[in-house]
Amino acid sequence: MGRANKVVLAYSGGVDTSVCIPYLKQEWGVEDVITFAADLGQGDELEPIRQKALDAGASQSLVGDLIQPFIEDFAFPAIRANALYEGRYPLSTALARPLIARRLVEVAREVGADAVAHGCTGKGNDQVRFDVAIAALAPDLKVLTPAREWGMSREETIAYGERCGIPAPVSKKSPYSIDLNLLGRSIEAGPLEDPMVAPPEEVFAITSPMSETPDAAEDVEIVFDAGNPVAINGQNLDPVAMIREANRLAGSHGIGRLDMIENRVVGIKSREIYETPGLLLLIQAHQELESLTLAADVLRSKRQLEMQWADLVYQGLWFGPLKDALDGFMDRTQQHVNGVVRLRLHKGNATVIGRGSIRSSLYVPEMASYGSEDTFDHRAAEGFIYIWGLPTRLWAASQRTSS
Ligand code: ARG
Repeated sequence: MGRANKVVLAYSGGVDTSVCIPYLKQEWGVEDVITFAADLGQGDELEPIRQKALDAGASQSLVGDLIQPFIEDFAFPAIRANALYEGRYPLSTALARPLIARRLVEVAREVGADAVAHGCTGKGNDQVRFDVAIAALAPDLKVLTPAREWGMSREETIAYGERCGIPAPVSKKSPYSIDLNLLGRSIEAGPLEDPMVAPPEEVFAITSPMSETPDAAEDVEIVFDAGNPVAINGQNLDPVAMIREANRLAGSHGIGRLDMIENRVVGIKSREIYETPGLLLLIQAHQELESLTLAADVLRSKRQLEMQWADLVYQGLWFGPLKDALDGFMDRTQQHVNGVVRLRLHKGNATVIGRGSIRSSLYVPEMASYGSEDTFDHRAAEGFIYIWGLPTRLWAASQRTSS
């Protein structure tokens, strides 16, 4: 009689997803709730979370280490695409969702589930990302979304949980809603709902407050190969280590905090605080290297397509046709993005102070120079400008005669 027999629930260990377990069983007649918790480098202890799901009534509690695919297959493409939603947010939360959805579907297949479930509410972006991704990957799987339908307030949810033996959140309850992974943290709700209220220092965890940043500037050199960051300060790093090191370096100088009003998919504006030090540093460096290595028209087209790439990832369309097509463009351009960028980190700012590329630079010193090595034909400019300016001269003349 239930909505499904066997359900794989995306599990974070928080109150909402914990309450989903007894709710699915008691209210919707699900027999087996199998939870899946993803390790995305958020630094939480996974074993207590695994146990918590069992305590809440899960028949199986699974955890999966997704850190490497998260960085290699989701974060690095975002760096290559310089993906910044609305010009600012580097999609640290959004990028994780299609990966979790993909793994959720795989687990559902492995255990023979007839549905998957998540604990997203009805006004966020994450529900969109999960639902669309699951529908694309497994159209036959039902998606159960208790938190979108139960209509309980936060207090009622906690009370429901307590009746089912799920302890209320311990310690002094944080008023914030926080999502975190190796790419960074997003913080919303509580006092932040007033857009005029400055974010209190307590919301930050991986970027230093300005008062604790070093007084001395620190220079870093980041090497890219085919658009991927591969070394920092002469040290070759695999993708996961690269993100960790970039987080450490930028974070220690207080770089990577954002405070913005963001347009959600469901049409509402929300106030978001982010700290994504490494990702922002790497994107800044990557953009700079592209300015040296990509032709002007490719660069201009790419900047427009980057916006579309960021939009569609934000909007949950990772597995859609535009993403696939844009990736073709991005990958082709990245063959040329090889070289090094030097940045100076100091007091919340990363400033590019140098860029170079032996293999792929389009900067030609004999063309650019005003010195004796200059080989540019200055006289050729006259004919070019005569024709270039022709429409302007004709139009200006017509304005004079018609007035
Ligand atoms: N607004 C961001 C996004 O849509 C982050 C939302 C994450 N959730 C949270 N509870 N802070 O990608």
